[in-house]
Amino acid sequence: MKKITISTSTSYDVIIKDNILSTLNEIILEYIEPCKICIITDSTVNSLYSKKVKTSLESSGFTTTKIVFPPGEHSKSLSTYSNILEAIADEGLTKTDCIIALGGGVVGDLAGFVASTYMSGIRYIQIPTTYLAALDSSIGGKTGLNLLRGKNLVGAFWNPKLVLCDPTVFNTLPTIRRMDGIAEAIKCAVVTDNTLLCPIKNNSYTYVIGRCVSIKKSIVEVDQYEESLRQLLSFGHLIGHAIEKLSGYSLSHGHAIAAGMIYEARAAYNMGFTDNDISSDLEILLRSLGFTPEVSYTVEELMQYVVMSKRIQKNHINIIVPVEIGKCKLVKLNVSQLEEYVRLGKE
Ligand SMILES: NC(=O)c1ccc[n+]([C@@H]2O[C@H](COP(=O)([O-])OP(=O)(O)OC[C@H]3O[C@@H](n4cnc5c(N)ncnc54)[C@H](O)[C@@H]3O)[C@@H](O)[C@H]2O)c1
Repeated sequence: MKKITISTSTSYDVIIKDNILSTLNEIILEYIEPCKICIITDSTVNSLYSKKVKTSLESSGFTTTKIVFPPGEHSKSLSTYSNILEAIADEGLTKTDCIIALGGGVVGDLAGFVASTYMSGIRYIQIPTTYLAALDSSIGGKTGLNLLRGKNLVGAFWNPKLVLCDPTVFNTLPTIRRMDGIAEAIKCAVVTDNTLLCPIKNNSYTYVIGRCVSIKKSIVEVDQYEESLRQLLSFGHLIGHAIEKLSGYSLSHGHAIAAGMIYEARAAYNMGFTDNDISSDLEILLRSLGFTPEVSYTVEELMQYVVMSKRIQKNHINIIVPVEIGKCKLVKLNVSQLEEYVRLGKE
């Protein structure tokens, strides 16, 4: 078992352990007293894992209820959000009860945002069931929903009470979903630690998750609210989010980020922000892992969503510039130069 404690505005443990689901009652009891727990999940994860979670919790005196929504990025919407809020109110969840987010990043972002706003904030536990959610989205307390104008434009920072990760649940993940996690792990490697590349290629899930969580811990403990340092973790996301949105979410998050990272590495080099063009090495690496990171959208199409970035503040945006694989820096760009940046990533 690996335990990592993250200390920001609140402190919480991330526990990584094989087969944790069947004994999670024992662990959860160390953190909260028996209460009503609402399991929020999508229908795929529901059919695979919610019974195990429910049985385990009820054996220790927790009362459970469950809310299930359709899987996929389209569910990260205001309408799913309001349906969940109405349902948990109907279930009589009170301020001293708890929510469990059982699923991938979509469930985590949505259930986390519900927890941050219901009755002005109630406790929630993240149980990530995708590789991506385990190594990235369940950590750091960032929650979010999409608007028609772009990804994650609504959200809040709201830390979980606990994160419980069971890597054995990745056995049921389709290859394409494992690749989503690989893309975010490679982002971590490019931003801070190139020694991660080998364990990522070897699918050493527990090691990679532990290392990515530790990296995120070291960053969010300095900059919880993403005012500077934490923005480094958004490498590939400015273009990646635009690609995801333009594809109508038919391209998943990790695959869009893979393409976004190559694009942004090329743009940074062509803008003269770094002497080192890592885009070719990154492309070779990602293709060797099965990605096909082409970006077929025009500069104008990409710009529609790039200009909606939350990183734009006072007419500036911090661009993430890879200096080498394992080291990135932030460069401040005037928004008037954004179109040039996007154009130069295309070349
Ligand atoms: N909050 C953050 O800091 C943060 C960071 C990175 C990404 N994200 C968000 O995370 C989302 C992507 O997360 P994701 O890739 O986990 O996608 P996802 O939640 O849509 O899950 C992908 C698919 O896998 C299925 N699934 C989940 N666990 C499974 C399992 N164990 N076995 C079989 N199928 C399973 C789901 O039902 C879904 O169909 C995006 O919305 C992205 O914006 C948030």
